[in-house]
Amino acid sequence: MCGIVGIMGGEPVADRLLDGLKRLEYRGYDSAGICTIHDDRFDRRRAPGKLKNLAQRLAEEPLAGMAGIAHTRWATHGAPTEDNAHPHIVGDVVVVHNGIIENFKPLRDELIAQGREFRSQTDTEVVAHLIAREIENGAAPRAALATVLPMLHGAFALGVMVRTHPDLLLGARLGAPLTVGYGDGENYLGSDALALAPLTQRIAYLEEGDWVAITREAVEIYDRDNNAVTRPIVNSGASGQLIDKGNHRHFMQKEIYEQPVVVAQTLRSYLRPLESKVALPDMDFDLSAIERVAIVACGTASYVGMIGKYWIEQLARVPVEVDVASEYRYRDPVLLPNTLGIVISQSGETADTLAALRHMRAAGVTTAGIINVPTSSMAREVDLLMPTHAGPEIGVASTKAFTCQLAVMAAFAANLARAKGRLGDEADVVQQLQQVPEAMSEALGHDGDIEAMAPKIAAARDVLYLGRGPEFPLALEGALKLKEISYIHAEGYASGEMKHGPIALIDEAVPLIVIAPSGPLFDKTVSNMQEAQARGAQVVLISDAEGIAQAGENTIATIEMPKVAPLIAPLVYAVPVQLLAYHVAVAKGTDVDQPRNLAKSVTVE
Ligand code: G6P
Repeated sequence: MCGIVGIMGGEPVADRLLDGLKRLEYRGYDSAGICTIHDDRFDRRRAPGKLKNLAQRLAEEPLAGMAGIAHTRWATHGAPTEDNAHPHIVGDVVVVHNGIIENFKPLRDELIAQGREFRSQTDTEVVAHLIAREIENGAAPRAALATVLPMLHGAFALGVMVRTHPDLLLGARLGAPLTVGYGDGENYLGSDALALAPLTQRIAYLEEGDWVAITREAVEIYDRDNNAVTRPIVNSGASGQLIDKGNHRHFMQKEIYEQPVVVAQTLRSYLRPLESKVALPDMDFDLSAIERVAIVACGTASYVGMIGKYWIEQLARVPVEVDVASEYRYRDPVLLPNTLGIVISQSGETADTLAALRHMRAAGVTTAGIINVPTSSMAREVDLLMPTHAGPEIGVASTKAFTCQLAVMAAFAANLARAKGRLGDEADVVQQLQQVPEAMSEALGHDGDIEAMAPKIAAARDVLYLGRGPEFPLALEGALKLKEISYIHAEGYASGEMKHGPIALIDEAVPLIVIAPSGPLFDKTVSNMQEAQARGAQVVLISDAEGIAQAGENTIATIEMPKVAPLIAPLVYAVPVQLLAYHVAVAKGTDVDQPRNLAKSVTVE
C-alpha cells in the first residue's frame, strides 16, 4: 500500500528519495510523487503508474533541494491520476499520507464552506488544508500539526513540510506504521526500515499517536498529548542492498524457491530434535488453561488459520473458530473466558487484523501472533509472538510467508496438544516436520512439468480447485493465487461440496485442479473428481505416486509430489499450487510481482 520517504538532508535528495520509493514498490501502488524545498519554494514531480514514469519526469525536469518528501500512492479516494498523486500542496504546506482520513467528508465540506478550493479528490488534501489554515492564522508548523492531528479520524501516517521552514520535516502516526531514521547530519522519515536501509540502519519506530519534528541535527518525538517522549533507537538490520531477484525472473519465483530454506529456518526455532520436542517461545500464560482458540487473519494468512483449525482440533481437541479480520469486529463475536486469540499476518500491519487484535485485547482475551515482521504493530501488541523467519517478502502474492506461517501453526498445534495431554508421539511430530524442507525441495523439482502444462490453464476463463480436509483451504489458496496474479477467475471448493452447486460450472473449458495426497481422504476426493470427469472436467491431479497410479487416468496432467505424512501435506502441496499460478501468470504476461489493483501491506480497512 502507500509508502512514505522523507529526507532532511545534507546533500541533494531527489535521487535518494526515488531510490527509497523503489524499495517501497513491493507494497503495491498506482502513482507516485516527490516534492523538495529549494530556494524557498516547493518543487514537485508526480506521475501516474509505475515509478519509471516518475523517473522519466525527473530525468526531463530534475529536482534540486536538500530536503523533501516522496510517496507511492495506492488509490483509495479518487483515481490514480497525477492530480490525485501525493505530495499535495496547499499554500505553504505539503503533505504525503498513508491510510484513510475517515471523517474527510465533513472536514472537506467545512473547508469548502470557508472558501477553500480543492484540487484533488483525495482525503489527504483536507490534511494539507487544515495545517495550511493553522499556519495562515499564525501558528508555527509544530503547533499547527499538533492542533490538526486530533481533528483527524481513521488510520494514517503523515509526512509534512512547510515552505517557510525549509529545515523542518514533520511526521505523525496513527494506525499506519512510520519510522524515523537517524543519520549523520541528516535525518529521515520512512514507512518502514527497508525504505531507509541505504540511508541508515539506526531506526526508531513511532508508537500510536506519536508525532515527530525532524531537523538535520535533531529528532524530537511527542506523544498524542504532546509530551516529549523518547523511543528506542534500534539497529534495523535491513540490508542496504536493493533486494534483488538473484537468478530468478520474478521475486515471486525467488520466494517460492526460498521455501525449503526459510521453512527450515523457521522450524529451527520451534523444534528441539535432541529432546524430541516442539517448543514455543516463553509465554506468561498457561497454555493448558486454553479452552478455545479464535483465529483472525486476512487473505492468504486466513487460509493458514483454516488449516490450523483442522490441526488444532485434531491434535489438541480444542475448538477453533476462524474469521476473516474484516468481518470479525462487526459480527460482535462472543469471546468466552479462556479463549486464546491468534492473529496471523506477514506484515503485522494489516489494518483489519490489527483492529481485530485490539478488539480481542479490549475484551480481555490473551493473544498470540504468527507474524513475519518482528517490529510491526501486531508483533508489539500480542501477548505471545510466534515469529516466522521468512525474511522480507517482496512479491505481492504471499508464498514463503504462507508456508512459514503453516510451519509455526503446526508447532503451535503440537504444543497445545501436549499442554492438553493429547499429543501422543511427539518424536514422530518432530520427525515429520523435519522432513518438510526436503519434501518441498522435491516438490520444486517438478517445476518443469508445471511450467509445461501452464499454457493449458492460461487459456481458461475459469478454473476450479478441489481439496478435502486441510487441502480444502489449500484449494482456496490455489484459487486466490491464480486470481491475484493471472487475473483468471478461480474458485476453491471442498471436494464434497462440488455436487451442491459448483458442478453446474463444469464443462470441457473449465480445468479442475484436484489436490489429493494419498491417505484417508483420498478415495472420497477421487470420487468427487470422477463425478466431475464424467461431466467433461479437464482434471489436473496433484498427488503422490500412489495416488496418481490409482486415479491419474483421464486427466490432462498429473503433478507428482513426494509421499508425506498428512500433517505436513499442506506445506508440501503449497509448492505446486504456487508454481502453477506463477507459470500461468508468466504465460499470460501479467505483472507477476505487482499485480494490478493489489497491495502488499493493506493498511486501510
Ligand atoms: C494483502 C496481500 C496478501 C495477504 C494479505 C494479508 O491482500 O496481497 O498476499 O495475504 O494482504 O496480509 P498480511 O500482511 O496480514 O499477511
